[in-house]
Amino acid sequence: MRFTIFALLAVAMIAAQPLPFLDYFSDGDYDGWTVYDIAPYSSGPSNWAVAGGCLTQTTNIYTTEDEYDVYTGTQVMTGDTTWTDYTFNVEWKSTDDDGIGLIFRARDEANYYRYLCVEDAANGGPFRRIDKCVAGTFTILALNIDDFTWPDYFVNVSVCCIGESLKVFDSGTLIVAASDPTYSHGKIGLTCYADDDANFDNVSVLPGAAIDTTGNLRAGPWLQMPESDGMTIMWETTTESVGKVYWGATMSFTDSVDSPASFIHEVTIDGLLPDTRYYYGVGLGDSVVAGADYYFDTKPPDDAPVRYVIWGDNRTDYVSHEHVVDAMITRDADLAINVGDVVTNGGVYSQWVIEYLYPARNLLKNTPSYISIGNHESDASWFDDYFAQPDNEHWFATRYGPAYLIFIDTNRLYLPLTEQYMWLYDELGSTEAQAAPWLFVIHHHPPYSEGWDSPGYDGEPNVRDFLVPLYELFDVDIVFAGHTHDYERGEKDGVAHVITGGGGAALDHWLQDWSYMFVYYAVYHYILLDMTEDYIIYRAYDWDNALIDSTLFGTIVDVDEPKAGLPADVRITSTSPNPFNAAVRIDYEVTSFDPVTVTIHDITGRQVAKIAESSPGPGKHQAFWNVERYAYRGEPVPSGVYMATVKCGDKSDTRKIELVK
Ligand SMILES: [Fe+2]
Repeated sequence: MRFTIFALLAVAMIAAQPLPFLDYFSDGDYDGWTVYDIAPYSSGPSNWAVAGGCLTQTTNIYTTEDEYDVYTGTQVMTGDTTWTDYTFNVEWKSTDDDGIGLIFRARDEANYYRYLCVEDAANGGPFRRIDKCVAGTFTILALNIDDFTWPDYFVNVSVCCIGESLKVFDSGTLIVAASDPTYSHGKIGLTCYADDDANFDNVSVLPGAAIDTTGNLRAGPWLQMPESDGMTIMWETTTESVGKVYWGATMSFTDSVDSPASFIHEVTIDGLLPDTRYYYGVGLGDSVVAGADYYFDTKPPDDAPVRYVIWGDNRTDYVSHEHVVDAMITRDADLAINVGDVVTNGGVYSQWVIEYLYPARNLLKNTPSYISIGNHESDASWFDDYFAQPDNEHWFATRYGPAYLIFIDTNRLYLPLTEQYMWLYDELGSTEAQAAPWLFVIHHHPPYSEGWDSPGYDGEPNVRDFLVPLYELFDVDIVFAGHTHDYERGEKDGVAHVITGGGGAALDHWLQDWSYMFVYYAVYHYILLDMTEDYIIYRAYDWDNALIDSTLFGTIVDVDEPKAGLPADVRITSTSPNPFNAAVRIDYEVTSFDPVTVTIHDITGRQVAKIAESSPGPGKHQAFWNVERYAYRGEPVPSGVYMATVKCGDKSDTRKIELVK
């Protein structure tokens, strides 16, 4: 209560302050700042003091009531409640791993926004986040859970609040961004949660997006339109500004091209060599965003082996999305394909960065990508603004490595005789499509869907009725879709159907059976394709890079020829562990190129799971049955004896395995 009274007196004495506001604490005091210790607290009261030319706080004070809901203890505040759009800069340092933060747009000590950093894992860290505090109750607006540690020197932190946009930069790098209408104006502050060595210096509040004068990015860069002789580089700045792209075969850039004044920048470099790595940088004002991890590879020749990653439906839960992206970037893919629903509502500007461009930033800056637009993009113009894709950007065809890719917009008309259908018909029959070793079609809505969390949806009837017959007629190899938030794989009349909708949005669960679909997991995941002209090693991984599904398209022709003397055309060589309680590995050998299936039956002969279906070719192979991931049609698999059967052509081998839970 003592501090509340003091605060009221202090506010009354402060006249309206114009911006800019500066306090370097070089006068030895922190006059004009008001201290609030948030009761009930422990290890307090606070001890704010100017020492060594900066403002310090040296007690471990923390608020004990709802500690992990509030993460607070003490705060100092200054400024004027009329301040609206501004950039709040602080240099800070801490040797304690608990919380320090910045308060902005504060109406009073209990109503404000806050940027809070907690490093200590024992206290829920590491995280850096933007909170909204309304009458002392906190709501998280944006969260970054990347590992971070306090350096032992001062770093610059900037909060840029313009309109509803709230962004925090650490040393010029965007850490978190949110959009919220609650507070349009207010004071600033500094805060500590259980941090007994907090140091703040050189506080400034500058009108407008002052941070832009030093050339900060809002998003990106991200790579688009891969060509054998070029690449398109895009990024977004917080003000309309000119930019520049630099590039070279090493980090010593040898060329540059200017980007005209814009918010969203799109610069195409050409005249490059095929299948070659280039380093690049994005120039903004006097600074260049560049480094050893800013590079791209130009498109390789059509017959070269390539690697794709494919994911989708990453919308809404950007923390889960980044988890999936973190797994994908370990694969160093040549091309990334997203099957759509990259944002919750394409009409909301902030979501394009918060849900897609920021969580996927470490993939998109090195790997060019294509998106098959989803229904949640809402046909918004932001989609066309943020991405550079061929032709009308919604339906288009391109080649990358041995595969010809046809992207369809299943949100727009695609029934027979529509413009899109006729275009698709021509594309499927084109020389480019038919001569390519592999032909893929990518669209958001699936023809067959087993998972969905509310009854009634089993895929798109119009895709089934009008597009699938075309795919079968023109020998499409794989159709990639999303929309359902799970992983599914199957096959109908020679065309493989895949759903990869586990990029971040809340997962759907198994609802109904399609005889064409035989692999199903409700799991966050992505797909990895290693492709040559002869075969595709197809794998799906969960977000921790555990293999959940694999198969082979085509044949690997460079394996050893079948050797004489092998005991049989197919043989299970081991099952381990056996008995098992979670997953069993089945090692087997085959001596022909005939199709292989690996199935699990219970002792009544009922098929419980099909865990592999491919033509792996002569040699040693393995399959996994993970009973936790492979619940049979939504039901847990009970303990008991099962039979694992590997069938190759008309030969088979069976072993008994025992599940003990
Ligand atoms: Fe969707």
